[in-house]
Amino acid sequence: MIGQTNLAGSFTLPGTSMTVNRLGYGAMQLAGRDGSKLVWGPPRNVDEAIAVLQEAVASGVNHIDTADFYGPHITNQIIRKALSPYPDDLVIVTKVSARRGEDGSWIPAFSREELTAQIHDNLRNLGVDALDVVNLRSMFSIHEPAEGSMEAPLTVLAELQQKGLIRHIGVSNVTPAQVAEARRMVSIVCIQNHYNLVHRADDALIEDLARDGIAYVPFFPLGGFTPLQSAELSDTATSLGATPMQTALAWLLQRSPNILLIPGTSSRKHLRENLQAAALQIPSEVLANLNSIGKPEKES
Ligand SMILES: NC(=O)c1ccc[n+]([C@@H]2O[C@H](COP(=O)([O-])OP(=O)(O)OC[C@H]3O[C@@H](n4cnc5c(N)ncnc54)[C@H](OP(=O)(O)O)[C@@H]3O)[C@@H](O)[C@H]2O)c1
Repeated sequence: MIGQTNLAGSFTLPGTSMTVNRLGYGAMQLAGRDGSKLVWGPPRNVDEAIAVLQEAVASGVNHIDTADFYGPHITNQIIRKALSPYPDDLVIVTKVSARRGEDGSWIPAFSREELTAQIHDNLRNLGVDALDVVNLRSMFSIHEPAEGSMEAPLTVLAELQQKGLIRHIGVSNVTPAQVAEARRMVSIVCIQNHYNLVHRADDALIEDLARDGIAYVPFFPLGGFTPLQSAELSDTATSLGATPMQTALAWLLQRSPNILLIPGTSSRKHLRENLQAAALQIPSEVLANLNSIGKPEKES
């Protein structure tokens, strides 16, 4: 896989000079786990974590998603160790608005002081002078988008952008109303929400963003902590000569041209498998079958 550069074509974040391959990498799986504390502490095999990052970039990945609250701090430190000095074309996207409790919980952290501290944590642990893209993650509900104004924290991020600490801004875990509010305030380059073959609440939002050239970056593209499992998906994958995970990623790539992928993995074996999804073309009649897997959630 080393040397692969055509990762499903490329996409330029709107109003920026940042062009990324559509198949990227999400770094959350690089942190460890301590009992019930997920994304916590160092990975079981730090050498493998470093190797995953280095092979991803060597294979053409130039879009990595992270957060300083993964670990906390540890995932960013591993990224720095593996990849710094960073290639010129690498875009590292991070997110803010939470801190971790000692029990592993994810605690909303939206105040001016907390957001500013998180930006400096990211700068220090990644070892950069400015962050490429910062997603403001809504925490009105931790697990799913919930209404609430994001004006105050976005104002803080816009000020930090003015100071040169942030190049571009995105939002995450947001409702369409929050996307609209954010877009009235600042130039938004990407939206990062939960979306995959069976979790399709953002179908209409994706179309709207595609019309305006804004990137839509699904988190949990493979189902997250409980990877996708479905007999239909497995049967379809077998008929395509692919794996279920490759099929799920290829479906997303064909779903809309503004979708950028950041599948997460802690292993080079899965990384290679996932990057090969870029070469999988799903015929239209098979796409229609796959579409029906996720539809009942909205239609029943
Ligand atoms: N904005 C947000 O609120 C938010 C929330 C969650 C995540 N994210 C971002 O989104 C990225 C992607 O989400 P995610 O990593 O949580 O979930 P994901 O990409 O949907 O799935 C990751 C899970 O799938 C497994 N996996 C990966 N490739 C596989 C393969 N080829 N075959 C079988 N299993 C495979 C991984 O295990 P192995 O490690 O064993 O491969 C891991 O358990 C994260 O890394 C993070 O950067 C953002």
